[in-house]
Amino acid sequence: MDFKSNIIVEKLPEHIAIIMDGNGRWAKKQGLMRVKGHEKGTKAVRETVEGCAELGVKNLTLYAFSTENWKRPKLEVQTLMRLLVSSLKGEIKTLQKNKIKLQAIGCIENLPSKARKELNEVIEKTAHNDHMTLTLALSYGSREELIQTVKKISEKVKNNIIDSESIDESTINKHLYTRNLPDVDLMIRTSGEQRISNFLLWQMAYAELYFTDTLWPDFRKENLFEAIYEYQKRERRFGKTSEQL
Ligand code: FPP
Repeated sequence: MDFKSNIIVEKLPEHIAIIMDGNGRWAKKQGLMRVKGHEKGTKAVRETVEGCAELGVKNLTLYAFSTENWKRPKLEVQTLMRLLVSSLKGEIKTLQKNKIKLQAIGCIENLPSKARKELNEVIEKTAHNDHMTLTLALSYGSREELIQTVKKISEKVKNNIIDSESIDESTINKHLYTRNLPDVDLMIRTSGEQRISNFLLWQMAYAELYFTDTLWPDFRKENLFEAIYEYQKRERRFGKTSEQL
């Protein structure tokens, strides 16, 4: 089936978030080292970004490195950081051509200085782009994000900038790393695992979850289009009944 031509442009998810999983298993299946899976995974990243840009999806967030990923073997962590730097260097032209703004969420200060420098350069150079926002979650953990949010808000309460009685959902939204992004509409996880693994917990409150057995290095535009097509078939009720929609 040609999923792309069956996608209704007016009903595109505003924000897609992806847990790119299965790089290690992909490599193992081929008898290769885990890092080869990550290298292959960068092609899937490119395909996904291009696919979203082609359709007109406004926001794409990729879980590239979690706070827990620091516990992986040193060589693997180094490879992931190297791939981040080389991808940023290699993709800047494509980002500019497609008017894609890059941003990062997470404990960016924990990244090696070379990665931070490259990241900041691309963020600055693409800041004016307005066709799509690509957010990389790097050294990211949702609970940590919520802790930081609570700290920022309590500081403002202490300094009488915020009245604690007035705190509502929008107060939280404005203090999250994702403050400039809408809620996640569609969350995709590859490789058959069915978990959300500390990713955008608050932002995914009403997200449709889509799980596929495809391993991340095998993920192509066609897989993305299928996920969006499936999303559009679902009825999102936000707590209401079908009749009320
Ligand atoms: C999960 O697979 C994937 C990651 C931890 C990293 C994702 C990184 C990339 C796709 C490459 C670089 C990214 C960018 C944005 C340039 P896994 O290693 O957990 O796989 P496994 O569960 O099969 O072991």
